[in-house]
Amino acid sequence: MTQILPHGGTLVNRLAEGVEREKLLAEAAGLATITINAWTISDLDLIAVGAFSPLTGFMNEADYQAVVQTMRLADGTVWSIPITLAVDEAKAAELTGVGRAALVGEDGVVYGLIDVQDVYKVDQKVEAVQVFKTDDAEHPGVQKLLSKPDHYVGGTVIVLNRPQPDRFGEYYFDPAQTRKLFADRGWRTVVGFQTRNPVHRAHEYIQKSAMEVVDALFLNPLVGETKSDDVPAAVRMRSYVALLEHYYPADRVFLGVFPAAMRYAGPREAIFHAMVRKNYGCTHFIVGRDHAGVGDYYGTYEAQELLRSFSAEELGITPLFFEHSFYCKTCGNMASSKTCPHDKSEHLTLSGTKVRAMLREGVCPPPEFSRPEVAQILIEGMSEHYIL
Ligand code: ADX
Repeated sequence: MTQILPHGGTLVNRLAEGVEREKLLAEAAGLATITINAWTISDLDLIAVGAFSPLTGFMNEADYQAVVQTMRLADGTVWSIPITLAVDEAKAAELTGVGRAALVGEDGVVYGLIDVQDVYKVDQKVEAVQVFKTDDAEHPGVQKLLSKPDHYVGGTVIVLNRPQPDRFGEYYFDPAQTRKLFADRGWRTVVGFQTRNPVHRAHEYIQKSAMEVVDALFLNPLVGETKSDDVPAAVRMRSYVALLEHYYPADRVFLGVFPAAMRYAGPREAIFHAMVRKNYGCTHFIVGRDHAGVGDYYGTYEAQELLRSFSAEELGITPLFFEHSFYCKTCGNMASSKTCPHDKSEHLTLSGTKVRAMLREGVCPPPEFSRPEVAQILIEGMSEHYIL
């Protein structure tokens, strides 16, 4: 059975093993060091396992500029989000001309090495406007970007130690593993679903609509860094497990986490999310309303429009677009404007803020909005979270 090719054609593997790893670890002791935070460790690991194929390292200046300006790598391959290693000016000066440097976590662990290709200064405001369509410091992605130093180090990486998940380790799979698991199950078509939220009925509806036309669903929640008012990943994971147990066919769904940080870059992040899911072996990818959006920065269907502007050949993975979905009281089922003729007043829609307020008060949203098993876990999780 032939599987969808990774983005760029080859699944990148930048993990050192065995004797080579030992040798490189010994070498690391004598190298210049770059301290990396959890976000960068996550990017590094995702590069190494091929989730970010065709990237083999942190972007050099040519790729960075091409991505920021044109949503393509310097060689023309579609890529929408800069994957960069930021250092301050003093470190940038120290690294100029250095061949190789060790990437060391705040915990002292040597996570990897980088072959420094270039060290360059960027204009983060330009990056913000291009990538996030705003330089408003209130935007969580922009805020994160502007909090980083503005010198970037580009170069190929190799990973020597991998971050260890503190929870839900059984749901961590590398792209090579998911590809094998999908093939072993005989799934020819797999739809990927990105989420940073609990799966409510609208999410379930679009997933199941997609499942009607493909072999299986890869429920792939993002569990890297998210903004503080998003539901914590540990709570969400419990809710996904309960939801799948009660409402999904076990032989047609696969749950595995996406350990990346959330950028909140809306349309550009939708492209990035799709490319990465292709690397995990998905043939299709769901993009609904305001994908990866935050606040009012992006139009409801802007992510879909941006994806449509690329050819099917260059995307490789097939996006499946869904309109805003809801429960319609007159239809008596989940629907969207594509399938429901009734007035808005018949539609049950609850804002995220409203739902969070209900859950904090221990009130279950109606079953037409959220499965009771999910709501219960969220209520428990919210109260734990609140106490913390
Ligand atoms: S996201 O930041 O990861 O996109 P979320 O977890 O809420 O946020 O969304 C996951 C996917 O479901 C996205 O593709 C999003 O567009 C889609 N989605 C969320 N809510 C709805 C809805 N009510 N109707 C249609 N699509 C939706």
